[in-house]
Amino acid sequence: MQIGIIGTGYVGLVTAVGLAELGHEVTGTDIVADKIDKASQGIAHIYEPGLEDLLKKNLQRGNLRFDHDLDKTIQSSDVLFVCVSTPQREDGSADMTYVEGVSRRIAENLNKYKLVVEKSTVPVRTSTWVKKTIDLYKKGDVEFDVASNPEFLREGSAIHDFMHPDRIVVGVETERARDMLVEIYQAYEDRILVTNIDTAELIKHASNSFLAMKISFINLLADLCERTEAEIESVARGMGLDERIGSQFLKAGVGYGGSCFPKDVRALIKIGEDLGVNMDLLRDVDKINLDRIAIVLEKLKKALWILKDKKIAVLGLAFKPETDDIRNAPSIAIIQALLGEGACVTLYDPQAAENIKAVIPENPPSVVYTRTALEALKGANAALLVTEWDEFKTLDLKKAHEIMDNPILIDGRNVFSPKKVRELGIEYASVGRK
Ligand code: UDX
Repeated sequence: MQIGIIGTGYVGLVTAVGLAELGHEVTGTDIVADKIDKASQGIAHIYEPGLEDLLKKNLQRGNLRFDHDLDKTIQSSDVLFVCVSTPQREDGSADMTYVEGVSRRIAENLNKYKLVVEKSTVPVRTSTWVKKTIDLYKKGDVEFDVASNPEFLREGSAIHDFMHPDRIVVGVETERARDMLVEIYQAYEDRILVTNIDTAELIKHASNSFLAMKISFINLLADLCERTEAEIESVARGMGLDERIGSQFLKAGVGYGGSCFPKDVRALIKIGEDLGVNMDLLRDVDKINLDRIAIVLEKLKKALWILKDKKIAVLGLAFKPETDDIRNAPSIAIIQALLGEGACVTLYDPQAAENIKAVIPENPPSVVYTRTALEALKGANAALLVTEWDEFKTLDLKKAHEIMDNPILIDGRNVFSPKKVRELGIEYASVGRK
């Protein structure tokens, strides 16, 4: 089977490399020439642990290649994984322009039977449109199938997630499509869940929204803890020990970000409302998450009263550790709010600074990027930890105390032990803890 990957963004590139690693013949294509040029040379355009090694390995092995020519890639493939982006529109719905465009191109190049697999996160019922579009534009009487195979990988551990999936969801309408996908994922035979296409599409949105709900739930409880003697980490542990609840995704903090959760929650709200379903539950999940920005700012104000002309060091800019991705990163809204208050910010992240610069350009003295965390802390009136990179866990807090103008630390991810930090004479606030 020749596999074509259309769109080599985050999901597409990892899928291409992962499927090649499983031993398949894979060709990746993208409209952004630079991504293809880089991938062909073994360079990943995103920072993802382990990705480049596997990319190089499979390029050398000869079963992975990249091609600028979309038409050629479609024609030579038996299976096409559609991994193009489905960005959020103003009303929260997913913009399906790219998926529609790719469906037309597939139709125009339908030279033999093909299985078209939706890998991008798409609203339930998308496959019906993909099918109709291919039918509308195809020239001859060539057969094809559409299937849904949502991707559940997390950034920062994408390769690990691809190679060790909890489940492979395969939404199909025909036996032929099912057999092809089961063959592709033979290595995970014991974890394949076969459903109809609507179900597979919904599983993806449902999973991400449920996880987002867990995070908003724990953040809501953190607000409660801050007003009582309860401690959020023990509350989370106590809840998580119940196997029905599970301990994961119960870490309180400055809220969820990334390319999936905020977008998928809003997309599911829109889908539900369009179908006449009351989606208030998820509206609140979104609202609780957005409220985190004001709550963290309040903590700074509680420590400094007025933020105007204060120098605030922001540690961690990526939406989570081990990635340079800044899409919907809480840091962006926090920095914008700080600048809105007239504060100056010194910004540090081990990987994501270059990406953030495109959104919040360097503009001294208001916005300064530094090469180390300590450099950001020098002369700061307060520090705000937004992303829990490992290197912050071993930050020299004694040194931080010495070089900051005011030793105030707001820990947005509960990285430090309150007792240890306070013993050093640092004023400290975290999330849902005393
Ligand atoms: C998520 C899903 O986990 C993945 O299955 C899907 O394919 C894509 O979306 P990702 O966006 O890479 O993956 O990151 P994830 O690790 O899930 O974290 C999302 C956000 O939630 C981050 O901003 C993280 O900081 C936050 N988070 C996560 C919390 O605030 N608390 C937690 O307990 C867990």
